[in-house]
Amino acid sequence: MAGITDGKFCEKMASHGFDLVTLGGYNVDKSTIAAGRQIIQRGRTEFDFPEKEIINHIKNQAHIIKGNSTWEGMVSVNIRTLTSKPVIEISKLEDVDVVEINAHCRQPEIMDLGCGQALLKKPQKLYEFTREVVNKVDSKVSVKIRANVPGVNEIIVSKAVEDAGSDFIHVDAMKPDYDVADYEIITSIKENTDIFLIGNNSIRDVESAHHMLAAGADGISIARAAIGGKLPFDLSMI
Ligand SMILES: Cc1cc2nc3c(=O)[nH]c(=O)nc-3n(C[C@H](O)[C@H](O)[C@H](O)COP(=O)(O)O)c2cc1C
Repeated sequence: MAGITDGKFCEKMASHGFDLVTLGGYNVDKSTIAAGRQIIQRGRTEFDFPEKEIINHIKNQAHIIKGNSTWEGMVSVNIRTLTSKPVIEISKLEDVDVVEINAHCRQPEIMDLGCGQALLKKPQKLYEFTREVVNKVDSKVSVKIRANVPGVNEIIVSKAVEDAGSDFIHVDAMKPDYDVADYEIITSIKENTDIFLIGNNSIRDVESAHHMLAAGADGISIARAAIGGKLPFDLSMI
């Protein structure tokens, strides 16, 4: 969650027993950093670091999580960028295990750049960008997508992500106007791909976590229910 999930936040979450925690999203190139500043100006929280400081900042945040800990999980970094270079640099950081391409952000300033959710409308471009990243990085790769975006076919997008060689697809199964996830989309992505699928949206208790896994997700992720730095249920119950 932009502006919230920094090293300290993720360190706290890791202690709840997660296998993976995600830093960011971070804007890491000139264009997305400028877009992030416009987003801040209209009152939305974002991480805001200059281009020449961002890699070192992420390095320090990842080290907060892994540095003095016996936790053996993975640190992922959610990234908004138009160029692969910063993704590759981030993948080489010692405490980073996964770089996550953000094809999910729906803030207009990011979409206007052809970044975030706009990538879902160009599956070939998403494929090529993911492929380039997969070929050059030293870490695992994840792609985060959003479901139920008008004009987007989630199966085509998911196959593009899988064919590009990504290790994970992270699906925000958002169902507009509902406060439950669209489990059918999770099932249809699972039935049409073999990629490790992280199911996300509206997981706030053991029941919703079980529902996501029963729908076909290989793992789950939690955002808003953890926004206060606490989890409303015990992960060992899942
Ligand atoms: C304040 C806030 C900031 C967010 N920032 C990001 C982000 O930078 N990158 C991203 O991939 N998702 C971001 N998300 C989306 C969440 O990671 C998650 O996909 C979404 O909230 C649905 O999951 P949930 O129902 O568990 O909250 C953000 C969500 C919130 C509430």
